[in-house]
Amino acid sequence: MTTRGVGAYLASIDAMPSGWEHAFAAVERADFLPRRVWSFDVATGTYTSVIDRDRDPVAWHRAANSNAPLVVQWDDGTHTGDEPGELASSSASMPSVVADMLHELDVTGGETVLEVGTATGYTAALLAARGCRVVTIEIDPVLAAQARANLNRTPYADAVTVVTGDGALGHPAGAPYDRLHITAGVRHIPPAWIDQARDGAIILMPWGTDYSPHDQALKLTRIGPGRACGPFTQPLSFMKLRDQRREFPETSFPDDWPETSRESAPDIDVTDTIGAAYEPVEFVIGLHVRDCVPQQVEGTLWLYAPDTGSGASIAAVSYAEGCKSAAYEAGPRDLWGEVQAAYHRWEDAGKPAADRFGLTVIADREGRVEQRPWFGSPDVELSIHHRPPL
Ligand SMILES: C[S@@+](CC[C@H](N)C(=O)[O-])C[C@H]1O[C@@H](n2cnc3c(N)ncnc32)[C@H](O)[C@@H]1O
Repeated sequence: MTTRGVGAYLASIDAMPSGWEHAFAAVERADFLPRRVWSFDVATGTYTSVIDRDRDPVAWHRAANSNAPLVVQWDDGTHTGDEPGELASSSASMPSVVADMLHELDVTGGETVLEVGTATGYTAALLAARGCRVVTIEIDPVLAAQARANLNRTPYADAVTVVTGDGALGHPAGAPYDRLHITAGVRHIPPAWIDQARDGAIILMPWGTDYSPHDQALKLTRIGPGRACGPFTQPLSFMKLRDQRREFPETSFPDDWPETSRESAPDIDVTDTIGAAYEPVEFVIGLHVRDCVPQQVEGTLWLYAPDTGSGASIAAVSYAEGCKSAAYEAGPRDLWGEVQAAYHRWEDAGKPAADRFGLTVIADREGRVEQRPWFGSPDVELSIHHRPPL
């Protein structure tokens, strides 16, 4: 079989995962894309306006066969028009990331796979072409129906079950699974994924904390009932599970803010705690400082943590050039103090990359899940400044 399209592109940049040549030759990404897509430029972080197959078939096919993530839905389907919407809510992921994730999934054919985040159905078709039986779950009914129609036009229709629903619940009827392939960003791992995995199963997902919009690939192995453990393997960025999107809230402050707040002088350069997209600093701070959402506005780093019993916490740390840097805080948590302490630990450890860290996940019988980050080995757990109650 001749490899064309995305498969040819992956082979040309030496990014074709071993064993996946046939699947990428058999499944064309273009066959799964809708007529209207928006291309994301990873270098500039911007989207094109719509690329419409009817209006410009050459540009559409170029986009289909490129390494760009292509948005296929904005704003959970409410957006209309040619310009990008507010929030990209579904996409055909970046092909080299799809390939990397499939490589990490370690399948050889014959496995049962639960995929969460069907979108176009392209990844589900690749898994089926590799010889897996696939259950794929999509929360958006319009996308799920489109994916089903796309898959029905391939030889893999019978190997893939498309379920419309919340992937956080998994699909118990198909369990136990040999692999769980999560293709939306995760902040809190649902217990169903551990429950429905076979012992020894790989559970692969983009995982991160509220402290950064970006993710790390997390490769967990189920090590017993209610337990899974594994390392972070590479930086990436996925749109998040629908109910795990975090944004800095519209917060109203007391009239006398910041006079009523606690003031301190930062003992580090605030900009050192702010990294570029795939640098590890924000990811590592987030491992230590839980449930904290940052936002940068004109020389001020804002930190917010929601109320978990004794009130919300907020901090504003100014770092504008030429001004004295100062931190103002209110609420029960010392958020800037937590961030500084996390940064010092990371610095003292020699600023290790994110792939030196990992996660142990423990789900109890009541369905509560604890996520315990570690450094170097699962025996060396990080001390979390603010551990949410189990
Ligand atoms: C990045 S896309 C997945 C890419 C896809 N697997 C592919 O083949 O390229 C993420 C998808 O996850 C879906 N999604 C978000 N939250 C979900 C949830 N709770 N359960 C199932 N699907 C969800 C979105 O609607 C979106 O289609």
